[in-house]
Amino acid sequence: MKKVLDLCGRKLSYQEQGDGNPIVLLHGFCCSSDSWKEVIPLLSQKYRVIAPDLRGYGVSQHTSVHAAISMEEMAEDIQNLLDALEIDKVDIFGHSMGGYVSLAFAEKYPDRLKSLSLIHSTALSDTDKGKEARLQSINTIEEKGMGTFLEGFIAKFFAPDRLENRDVMTKWAFEIGIKTSPSTAIGCLLGMRERPDRNHVLGSLQIPVLLLAGSQDLIIPKERTFSVHDEHIKQVEMSGCGHTSMFEAPRELVEIMINFLVNN
Ligand code: MLT
Repeated sequence: MKKVLDLCGRKLSYQEQGDGNPIVLLHGFCCSSDSWKEVIPLLSQKYRVIAPDLRGYGVSQHTSVHAAISMEEMAEDIQNLLDALEIDKVDIFGHSMGGYVSLAFAEKYPDRLKSLSLIHSTALSDTDKGKEARLQSINTIEEKGMGTFLEGFIAKFFAPDRLENRDVMTKWAFEIGIKTSPSTAIGCLLGMRERPDRNHVLGSLQIPVLLLAGSQDLIIPKERTFSVHDEHIKQVEMSGCGHTSMFEAPRELVEIMINFLVNN
């Protein structure tokens, strides 16, 4: 059951399960906290897991129509959520766009973080080609609708070699994604398009960092995830995994997450 908070006059929904050290899970683009469905029950055996619906997702509201939803605004929502739950410091795991939000959070509120993990994400900004692709995606949504856009987007979620459960995972991802309104999707595309490079944030953090990549990620290739090398940064490659280990290999993902948390 999702809980709903009123944050400065706007609703924010989130899932919460378990006791122990608090962990925040931030979902990716056209996903929601439901994309952590397999992960939350496993992680919550050891931790207090908090999985918000980012601005515009679930019943979390965003107010503007067809304007950019910035990574910084969504990071601010997470800070407000932590305040409302009276949580001082957390370990944040951000999947893809959720990773961009967690980097904006790390830049603005470094004192609230115990560790930061980017799951199939990157600290790099969009390339020129990537920025152009964002505009094409907006075009597709405006001209053909969310269903057509999602079919193309979700086709890139899973490793090409991963045939087992592919239809089930595709259906599940589509069911989550189709709940995204066009204005949220367009807002996030514009927000991701304008996000800055945050390699300097990753490099200068004084806390443990995990960079996790799928060897067959068609959306964010591992070279873009492993963009900074430093002593405080652990890099893990999931062999045979695509862009969505929370769908494709949730048990393996949780094992990596717990291993990182326990050893830091
Ligand atoms: C995501 O999965 O959140 C997005 O694909 C990230 C992106 O498009 O950069």
